[in-house]
Amino acid sequence: MKFSKKKGEVKAEIVVNGAKKFEEYGFEGKEGEILVLPEKKRVYVGIEEINAENLKTATANIIKALKKYKFESVEITPPNTENEDLLIAFFEGFLLGDYEFDKYKSTKAKHPIKEICINSKRNFDKIIKEAKIRAKNINFVRDIINSMPDEITPAKLTAIAEEIAKENNLECKIYDENYLYENGYHAFYSVGKASANPPRLIHLAYKPKNAKRKIVLVGKGLCYDSGGLSLKPADYMVTMKSDKSGAVTVLGIIKAASELGLDVEIHAILGAAENMIGGNAYKPDDVLKAKNGKTIEVRNTDAEGRLVLADCLCYAEENIKDFDKIFDFATLTGACVVGLGEYTAGIMGFNKEQINEILKTSEKTGEHFAYLPFNKYLPKLLKSNVADICNIASSRYGGALTAGLFLSEFVENKEKWTHFDIAGPAYVEKEWGYNPFGASGFGVDSILTYLKSL
Ligand code: BES
Ligand code: ZN
Ligand code: ZN
Repeated sequence: MKFSKKKGEVKAEIVVNGAKKFEEYGFEGKEGEILVLPEKKRVYVGIEEINAENLKTATANIIKALKKYKFESVEITPPNTENEDLLIAFFEGFLLGDYEFDKYKSTKAKHPIKEICINSKRNFDKIIKEAKIRAKNINFVRDIINSMPDEITPAKLTAIAEEIAKENNLECKIYDENYLYENGYHAFYSVGKASANPPRLIHLAYKPKNAKRKIVLVGKGLCYDSGGLSLKPADYMVTMKSDKSGAVTVLGIIKAASELGLDVEIHAILGAAENMIGGNAYKPDDVLKAKNGKTIEVRNTDAEGRLVLADCLCYAEENIKDFDKIFDFATLTGACVVGLGEYTAGIMGFNKEQINEILKTSEKTGEHFAYLPFNKYLPKLLKSNVADICNIASSRYGGALTAGLFLSEFVENKEKWTHFDIAGPAYVEKEWGYNPFGASGFGVDSILTYLKSL
């Protein structure tokens, strides 16, 4: 698919809140309505108001509608605005809406839309270039998350990261299971112990000259989460290939940031492991010592992400000097999905200003984040009788917060830290907005916009 200034086969139009109506077709120009008139060669999509999310969804819907009718090109006028975020969203939507995961299908999806014809005298080259890099990387993240667990093992994720490092001139360090064991990353090591596919800690760094800031991104990379000995019920285990979403997201962000040439130093730390069962699996009742010396009583092996991340956070703080911020991304808790629904990520931390910056940024990209505030009553829920801390809370309520609070025990620079629980939006088994069934690539867009703003 390419963008041009030619004439297109079909004309598409985004209708804002009933500005255009076709009563004979029952089209009122309202949010979510799509009208295709193949004989007249017209497509109309309705949105409630102009914002980034609606524009991405509108252009994604145009692509989906045209694919159905096998048109090859479409002509459209971009919104009349100077707002760069809105224009990026407008162009991105076409490419995000074009995404189909057909890797394992014998009959591959056809891609008849060859050309998006931009009906405007303005020069959008810079905007289109950025929109393409963003969409390409979001689709790359979707592809890896959607790929089956037998394919994307920790070793495979390592190989993918190494390849990206080579192509984009990133520094790349890989640590294997022996390194993790010998160097005291026993929380991380133990989670991966029972798998035939051993764990890896992956550290990529993008170091542009004259970088203004240094940002660390840590990602939960559970290539599979069976729950371990605290085995998940069958219905809950399905989709757990998506438990690597945090790690893949930070991989997509660092790759896109380097392609965009952002002037921020970025470190991506991926904790890749499989949480499996077996004779050597870690057990409820085990006590594990993390890299920072804290001991953890395991009472549920399905609360494994926080164990992997605990050591990854310790690794980051020990090995990366003088960073400005440290963010972690994880499909950490079902509780976050129960609380906020499937379309919203939870964000937690002690720095309210930093959290507000993220919330403000997300409006520019149309992704949904909600702040979940810690309070002074929560820490005692993680108390253990046999170790420094327990890996699950004693209360069945507020699981997203207690998981986030657990992580904070492994962060020294608490004011620099923000935790993103993306368990809901990272992977949804139905289409929503401009997102397909399955992996969404959630977070990549917002964090790129945030990094750009630094
Ligand atoms: N990977 C899961 C969380 C999850 C659930 C992600 C649903 C995406 C969709 C995580 O490792 C987990 O199993 N968490 C447990 C924690 C509990 C044992 C304290 C959970 O949420 O039930
Ligand atoms: Zn789990
Ligand atoms: Zn998990």
